[in-house]
Amino acid sequence: MTTTGTAPGAADGLLDEAVRAQQRAAWALAAPGWAEYRRDLAAPARRVDERMFRLARLGPGDRVLDLACGAGGPALAAAERVGRGGRVLGLDLAPPMVAAARSLARERGAVQAEFRTVAAENELGVPPGSFDAAVCRAGLPYMPDRAGALRAVRAALRPGGRFSALLADEPGVVSPFRVRHGVVTRRGPAAGTGRRRARHGGLGEWTALLESAGFTGVRAEARRAPVFEAEHAAAAWVLIVRTSGALLSWYSGLDERSRDAVHREAVRTLAAWFPDGPVRPSGEVVLLCGTNPG
Ligand SMILES: C[S@@+](CC[C@H](N)C(=O)[O-])C[C@H]1O[C@@H](n2cnc3c(N)ncnc32)[C@H](O)[C@@H]1O
Repeated sequence: MTTTGTAPGAADGLLDEAVRAQQRAAWALAAPGWAEYRRDLAAPARRVDERMFRLARLGPGDRVLDLACGAGGPALAAAERVGRGGRVLGLDLAPPMVAAARSLARERGAVQAEFRTVAAENELGVPPGSFDAAVCRAGLPYMPDRAGALRAVRAALRPGGRFSALLADEPGVVSPFRVRHGVVTRRGPAAGTGRRRARHGGLGEWTALLESAGFTGVRAEARRAPVFEAEHAAAAWVLIVRTSGALLSWYSGLDERSRDAVHREAVRTLAAWFPDGPVRPSGEVVLLCGTNPG
């Protein structure tokens, strides 16, 4: 097969599909880690989740969409907020994440929360205007078609419905990711992170994306927030590896000697940052929000 004569749109579509396949595989690998470590990830995130929910104006009885819901953490926190009279639909690309979210919802008796797998962020398979609010925690930067995702979210909202998204995972800003990024770029191929197209734009780029998707009253705010908690540096490094599919796949492909060397370097770095015991990294996260004018 030749690509000669392929329209640029078609080529972009193929590249987007390749990114999704890579992301799906990476997050499928990380799903057990997200299920296992959900408490260590959830407790520190509570404050920023609250802020994200406030910006989306979540209230009792609301119908809420959670895009890139992962193992269900934010969706189930939203389910508590909307109560039994509301409804939360979590959508994610990776079936094992959706399975983990369903099992957590069953465990918690959250009958108002439902979870589904989607094939792409720009085709959500929900009726137009059927949600009062939408959220997306730490999901947008991984999506190849962010503009399409934002348009799809806006279409899913009723007129006046609000969207709020949290962005984290900027190497160099959030410390655990700095360790990860540092070790991986020093010791492995940059492509080993699987993040070539999954990078942050600047704040201005994100607000412009929301505006061109048709959101109004778009705002962005940055704040420092805790990221996770671990008892000590070695436990922290295991958590970082097990909850990052791209890193896990690169790390498990190393021979034992290289893996040990990476492990030692990462643990040494984390221990130097938190010499007195528990590892409680914090970093800058960005919260975006906007309204569907209808
Ligand atoms: C860092 S996790 C965040 C999960 C969850 N929002 C949370 O905060 O606990 C990123 C999630 O984005 C999902 N994801 C990545 N690319 C996606 C896409 N194109 N469409 C939908 N979900 C995607 C992954 O499968 C993964 O569950």
